[in-house]
Amino acid sequence: MKVGLVGWRGMVGSVLMDRMHQEGDFEHFEPVFFSTSNAGGKAPLGGQPLGDANDLKALAELDVILSCQGGDYTKQIHPALREAGWQGYWLDAASSLRMADSSVVVLDPINRHVIDSALDKGTRDFIGGNCTVSLMMLALHGLLAEDLVQWATCMTYQAASGGGAQQMRELITQMGTIHGAVAPLLDDPASAILDIDAKVIETMRAPSFPTEQTVVPLAGSLIPWIDTDLGNGMSREEWKADAECNKILGFGADRHIPIESLCVRIGAMRCHSQALTLKLNKALPVAEVEQRLAAGNEWVELVSNERNSSMHALSPSSVTGTLKIAVGRVRALAVEPGIYSLFTVGDQLLWGAAEPLRRMLRILVSR
Ligand code: HSE
Repeated sequence: MKVGLVGWRGMVGSVLMDRMHQEGDFEHFEPVFFSTSNAGGKAPLGGQPLGDANDLKALAELDVILSCQGGDYTKQIHPALREAGWQGYWLDAASSLRMADSSVVVLDPINRHVIDSALDKGTRDFIGGNCTVSLMMLALHGLLAEDLVQWATCMTYQAASGGGAQQMRELITQMGTIHGAVAPLLDDPASAILDIDAKVIETMRAPSFPTEQTVVPLAGSLIPWIDTDLGNGMSREEWKADAECNKILGFGADRHIPIESLCVRIGAMRCHSQALTLKLNKALPVAEVEQRLAAGNEWVELVSNERNSSMHALSPSSVTGTLKIAVGRVRALAVEPGIYSLFTVGDQLLWGAAEPLRRMLRILVSR
């Protein structure tokens, strides 16, 4: 199989390349690397020079195209290729095609049955889900698999990486700017904390504070809105949870798990965290809910609901850079039987973006 890779040098693309190397994926297909800006340049793995990612004729010779190039590229190239009669598989990290009837959102540990039946029916567009949704679903896998979830709410704490590499850089610059403004005061044990605080907020509110990417300060603050405004009090990020989760599960008009979200950007680098409230179809003992969550898949790491473990194992700093889906703070809430709280943390670039796509590619090459 000839697999064209586009956008492999960006942040998600680089994480994907690393994972493909780690898993020996390149032994299973012939990779052809493309670039939108450096056609003819040196390709990785010593293969043929970089192809032109806008050359429809070259792209049409591929069996699979895997794009991490972003939504604009997808909107421009995908329809042109399909109109020209290209029958290959299109795998994409961008959201543009996710909700199209002709595409499947891939998260194979959960929806392999949906993927297989779509492949049998000739579906050719397989799209990675929104990071928050994929991470939430992997965390709930053990409950979703038994159809135990009646509804859920997700309060998210999303990392800067979800907004792109530039937001991560700016977050650190903001942290440094804040520290720089008060470093002499911090070094002086006699300085008053309220003076330090006043200087911090003055720095953050100054027009010179770097917010080109994040619009408002993220370091030392948070941003309670992610993605566009749908005009009904909901952000697009919040809308995705319900829409994509139900699509991933393969549900149609007759079946639906309502999922409500409130999505917030925080100053973490690349791990998204989420506080969920779950209504289950049955009131189960907490130990059984924990057991089912832990058994959901091999990546879930159940963290017992006590202070020390929660602080050490259920945080972005402990999970980042791994495929772990940490799940903890499981508790039956006193509101009514069958309602539970839960907290989960996962790496937004791994299971949230790269991993479902590389696994989908392996499914394709193994057929
Ligand atoms: N939309 C997500 C975020 C990342 O802004 O955190 C992409 O799935």
